[in-house]
Amino acid sequence: MADELVRVLNVIARVCRLAFHGVAALSSLLINAREFGVPLSRYETTAMRSENEIPFEDKPFKVPVADRMKRLPPYLFGKINKMKYQKRVAGIDVIDLGMGNPTDPPDQLIIDKLTEAVQDPKNNRYSVSNGIGNLRKEVATRYRRKYGVELDHDTEVIATIGSKEGFSHMCLALMGPGDTAIVPAPSFPIHVYAVVLASGNVIALDTRDPQEFLRNVAFTCEHLFPKPKLVIVNFPHNPSSTCIEQDFYVELVKLANKYDFNVISDFAYADICYDGYQAPSFLSTPGAKDVGVEFTTMSKGYSMAGWRIGFCSGNAEMVRALATIKGYYDYGIFQAIQIAAIVAMRHCDHAVDSIAAEYQKRRDVLCDGLKNLGWEITPPRAGMFVWAKIPEPWAEMGSIPFSMKLLEEAGVAVSPGSGFGPEGEGFLRLAIVENSQRLRQAVRAIGRCLKPEVAAAGS
Ligand SMILES: Cc1ncc(COP(=O)(O)O)c(C=O)c1O
Repeated sequence: MADELVRVLNVIARVCRLAFHGVAALSSLLINAREFGVPLSRYETTAMRSENEIPFEDKPFKVPVADRMKRLPPYLFGKINKMKYQKRVAGIDVIDLGMGNPTDPPDQLIIDKLTEAVQDPKNNRYSVSNGIGNLRKEVATRYRRKYGVELDHDTEVIATIGSKEGFSHMCLALMGPGDTAIVPAPSFPIHVYAVVLASGNVIALDTRDPQEFLRNVAFTCEHLFPKPKLVIVNFPHNPSSTCIEQDFYVELVKLANKYDFNVISDFAYADICYDGYQAPSFLSTPGAKDVGVEFTTMSKGYSMAGWRIGFCSGNAEMVRALATIKGYYDYGIFQAIQIAAIVAMRHCDHAVDSIAAEYQKRRDVLCDGLKNLGWEITPPRAGMFVWAKIPEPWAEMGSIPFSMKLLEEAGVAVSPGSGFGPEGEGFLRLAIVENSQRLRQAVRAIGRCLKPEVAAAGS
């Protein structure tokens, strides 16, 4: 008990020291949940910056960049991405399960509507930053139809240039020096770095046991001063595919009221659910709109990732804060895309259902295949990822060298778990974006690559 108190006081002292001396403005804190249990150190990892391949080299800038740039960690995956790129250039086939970037096309109706809307000269003009009224109305209609949530499309819905843009700007609108956000760990990188770029501090709490996450949120709120301002949740979770039921949000809303924080729910994988599971919307919890917002996207369920269209819905004041900052930064989404998105939401539920069914098939192919190789796999109930524990005897190797081995020797690209923060070490994230045949091919290639070592270990 005394030890725990000392540890907590250490954490608080460190946060307060930085906040009170204004250092937080220069050097955001990232605290890992385990640091409540070990001496506090800076979250000194390198991390996954984005899931994209980056064309630029990771080296010091020769121009005097802003301090916020110095807060970003070195890029961890430069070597892996370079290797992937070199293989492609050499004409070597790579089965790419690295990024949750859908390979399936959107429904033809959506493409036809876009093609038609592009012909209309008035759609070439700047659109409105918040999204056109009929689009916001359609989002509200879909929330009512799917989740029984009532939204005022004028004050409680805003369109964003993908949910990642909206999320980042929301953090910029809400967070500043000395403010702290609790984020899920392992972490989808932007959940951490949008807060860091806004000069906020981050406490990363393991989200894979949702009830434990809630207890840790309460513990943090009890012990941290100033209290966290924002709690970010993401279920179905990227990367771990952890899912929750509605009661999780009931508890979260209670905590938000008790400790006076706001909530951002990143609901990117709302539409990709399996075996009859329906991921609950945070907004369908009584009182949710009083404390938070939810981001949704057309990238996953409608396979419109490159179109860049998402939404932020819920608390009118948070939506207004985002609208204000967006009004300065952007002119909104190409109007033809907004029009096609209306058609998608109005007429293409069938396409969402069939893409979810397709991902379910792929999940089964990949999970069954890896289980047959002896891997310990829990099939996800939703999302686009299989979160796989690295099997013995390779667990010791670390997720980055193991991922490089799979790429080099099996021609299969995956994301190493450590790219999502220290909690991800020992795991791989495999995106089920390639078709079933390619996934079978991936499993065979992984099996062939690891077989000699299995045999050697057994002899
Ligand atoms: C959890 C999560 N949130 C947000 C996004 C980004 O979505 P969008 O394409 O709408 O920016 C992704 C994309 O992979 C994601 O995994």
